[in-house]
Amino acid sequence: MLKDELQAIGSKALEELQSVSDQKLLDNLRIQYLGKKGSLTTILKQMKDLSAEERPAVGKLANEVRSNIEQAISKRTEELKKLELEHRLRTEAIDVTMPGKPKKLGSRHPISSTLDDLEEIFLGMGFSIAEGPEVEYDYYNFEALNIPKDHPARDDQDTFYINDNILLRTQTSPVQVRTMQSQKPPIRIIAPGRVYRSDAVDATHSPLFHQVEGLVVDKGITFADLKGTLETFIKRLYGEDSVVRFRPHHFPFTEPSAEVDVQCFNCHGKGCRLCKGEGWIEILGCGMVHPKVLSNCGIDPEEYSGFAFGIGLERIAMRKYNIDDMRLCYENDVRFLEQF
Ligand code: DAH
Repeated sequence: MLKDELQAIGSKALEELQSVSDQKLLDNLRIQYLGKKGSLTTILKQMKDLSAEERPAVGKLANEVRSNIEQAISKRTEELKKLELEHRLRTEAIDVTMPGKPKKLGSRHPISSTLDDLEEIFLGMGFSIAEGPEVEYDYYNFEALNIPKDHPARDDQDTFYINDNILLRTQTSPVQVRTMQSQKPPIRIIAPGRVYRSDAVDATHSPLFHQVEGLVVDKGITFADLKGTLETFIKRLYGEDSVVRFRPHHFPFTEPSAEVDVQCFNCHGKGCRLCKGEGWIEILGCGMVHPKVLSNCGIDPEEYSGFAFGIGLERIAMRKYNIDDMRLCYENDVRFLEQF
């Protein structure tokens, strides 16, 4: 009787095990047959009712059935593991021959790469890079640069005022003042950055644009140093055969002052569309630092002298990349930007 039941349990268990398809169901089966309240255990509990003669044979059979089931479970466990692995290999396989997804890379903005060019040239000449705030005191932007409240130079540089004393800087020249007040000569810096003016937007004007300021202060600096440095800069930028011209000009913070032109590389001075018939293209403003500016910054003009310059970055970038409308530089239109 018990023997038959044991055999029946054994074969039923082995049969069910074969159809089990995951580890969790397999664990359930194990409990169902071999657990404390499992069917095999229940049968074994009835062994005590057997006669002494019957018991050993039934006991032996029970052990066989148990170990058969155990073996079958571990065999099935291995099989399931293998199946699971095969399934994962199939579903997670990477086809290395599939074409990649192209990643769209951006590129340097023409203004940024022009600034990179200028920085490289000046760093190569021993300059370092200085910075100043875009929200600036009237004092640094105008007053200390020899542009008092009633000075006509303020007319061309109307800007956005935070209050009577604080404004958006109209030029990078205030960085000259900040540098001279915080550093002892010798000074050799360029100061690139954004500047602001309340100009109406058109093809050549924007309320936000960029300048690169330059300042050199030391004992015995002369106009010859200014010419040599700026000529070298322009030749590095536009090529060794560039022709450079210094034109007298006026800036309140330099004396004497000049504007620097490069001969149009398109028409070589004859006059064309690019240079608007002039034959020359204006590159920057410059001059010897005004003695008043030096003393405003705590530097003795009897002992030290220096030169300064200011470069408009957009102009150089627009010429380099043949951009005919400044607004394109700020609109972030990818169709424009991806050309560079
Ligand atoms: N800050 C002047 C401007 O915005 C440019 C300039 C001219 C800067 C002469 C200088 C300089 O340092 O010496 O028009």
